[in-house]
Amino acid sequence: MNILLAVLLLPLLALAQSSSSSGNAPSGSSSGSSQPPASSSSSAPASTAFTTIVSTAISSIPTIIVSGGNRVETTIVSTSVFSTVEAITTGGSGSSSNASTSSSSSTSSSPLPTAPTNVNGGGQGGAPFPGASGANGAFGPDDGTFMSALDSPEVKRPKMIKTIGTHNGTFHCDEALAVFMLRQTSTYRDAQLKRTRDPAVLATCDIVVDVGAVYDESKQLFDHHQRGFTEVFGHGFETKLSSAGLVYKHFGQEIIANRVQLPVSDSKVNVLWLKVYKVVIIVCLDVSSQLKLSAKEFIEAIDAIDNGISQYPTDIKPRYRNRTDLSSRVGALNPWWNQSTDAQTVDGLFEKASALTGQEFLGKLDYYANAWLPARDLLIASVSASKKAVDPSGKIILFEQFLPWKEHLFELEADESVADIQPGQAIYVIYPDETAGNWRVQAVPLTPESFESRKALPEVWRGLRDEELSKASGIDGGIFIHASGFIGGNKTKEGALKIAQKALEM
Ligand SMILES: *[C@@H]1O[C@H](CO)[C@@H](O)[C@H](O)[C@H]1NC(C)=O
Ligand SMILES: *[C@@H]1O[C@H](CO)[C@@H](O)[C@H](O)[C@H]1NC(C)=O
Ligand SMILES: *[C@@H]1O[C@H](CO)[C@@H](O)[C@H](O)[C@H]1NC(C)=O
Ligand SMILES: *[C@@H]1O[C@H](CO)[C@@H](O)[C@H](O)[C@H]1NC(C)=O
Repeated sequence: MNILLAVLLLPLLALAQSSSSSGNAPSGSSSGSSQPPASSSSSAPASTAFTTIVSTAISSIPTIIVSGGNRVETTIVSTSVFSTVEAITTGGSGSSSNASTSSSSSTSSSPLPTAPTNVNGGGQGGAPFPGASGANGAFGPDDGTFMSALDSPEVKRPKMIKTIGTHNGTFHCDEALAVFMLRQTSTYRDAQLKRTRDPAVLATCDIVVDVGAVYDESKQLFDHHQRGFTEVFGHGFETKLSSAGLVYKHFGQEIIANRVQLPVSDSKVNVLWLKVYKVVIIVCLDVSSQLKLSAKEFIEAIDAIDNGISQYPTDIKPRYRNRTDLSSRVGALNPWWNQSTDAQTVDGLFEKASALTGQEFLGKLDYYANAWLPARDLLIASVSASKKAVDPSGKIILFEQFLPWKEHLFELEADESVADIQPGQAIYVIYPDETAGNWRVQAVPLTPESFESRKALPEVWRGLRDEELSKASGIDGGIFIHASGFIGGNKTKEGALKIAQKALEM
């Protein structure tokens, strides 16, 4: 065994030395360096050589490890060493077609084992220590890779690639998204996938979703098909969960925190976690019922479909079935009746489906994180500013720019931690109508979906336009007041404000 390891170590040390001899001391230097990074084309021939050396070394590793017993697999080991070589050539940019095409099917693009950047690589004279980090990535496997190999016959691998198990055959939206989401966690990032119904194979997986008839987080088993399964998301959501809902319930906060780069404990992560659970994916009916249906939201909709729960209140019948929603699009990726259903083909299609659900999921998450949530902050700021400058009672809120305010307002009114926004306080909001260059006064509705207002604009002004309105209201420049009194317009901000102020007194 020691001989084999020596065979492995020597070429790697030689490799590290040759890369350092062509540049500056590897640690520290970054953008200011005049030396091209390791990924420049000039180093390409050398990197090809490295690949050859290391893959020779790799092939000896499985011999060592398999003798250690348990469920270690040779492909996994060869992958992690191979990825290291990739970092040398590409500067650690993550995935590369090289790694995935020339290694086994279990190859991953997982981040490399990198040493801390403060390790002194040796510079001019000596070779960098194994694991030393250059400006552009690691020079070699970190010390732990070697040390653990030397330490114990069982070989602890610091970056073992995990395996997710799910069922084979026809796939659905829920496990496709579940697998995608798991791969957004630090534990299962770049995990490989086994699609099977064979319990013996599933037992070798690190986590199993949508198959196995067990839900037990402590064992990382997440099926929802078994009799007696009743798990719901909670927080006001009572729909039974699909495997996507289950994974989202347990891993969603981490996934969101990773994506938005905030600590899991940040309250924004929690807000997004609840929000994305509800995001709309089904918009299938004509415009009039669309508003009602939009209360059904993303994962909840997936859960509902997967559990066979009707998405529609029973008295509303869809005129036609929308075949472009996410579940339908995932379903359509399954093999056609006359296409091959061999495991390799279907597994490939599943990966496509998983990527599709992931794109949709991250798209929604990004929208809620980067557009929806900032609007919430702006609303809070506008309420404070309006209390100072417009209306101390908080009944009129002025937005200097349009923003989606309604849903936030109701949620913030219900949130006791936001002292500035009291339930029922806001009566009118004023905002610019960017397309027409006018300003609008909108009456706050009783509920987000209601057409009834807390205090509609005065009856005597309703249905009037222009001159007529200016005369009736005594406010020049009036544009219109809607017949139902929920919205009105004026050419200027001041005019709109006057409408609101006057309406409050009537
Ligand atoms: C691997 O990378 C090298 C250098 O970047 C490139 O020339 C070669 O075509 C790649 N091989 C594969 C199989 O992608
Ligand atoms: C699923 O996998 C099992 C074994 O794991 C196999 O017997 C079965 O034929 C596969 N089913 C489909 C539909 O591919
Ligand atoms: C069908 O639903 C999708 C998303 O769920 C939506 O984007 C699309 O506009 C809908 N199509 C029709 C015709 O309603
Ligand atoms: C499936 O059947 C249709 C109709 O016969 C044919 O046009 C199509 O090429 C077939 N597809 C495959 C993959 O065999």
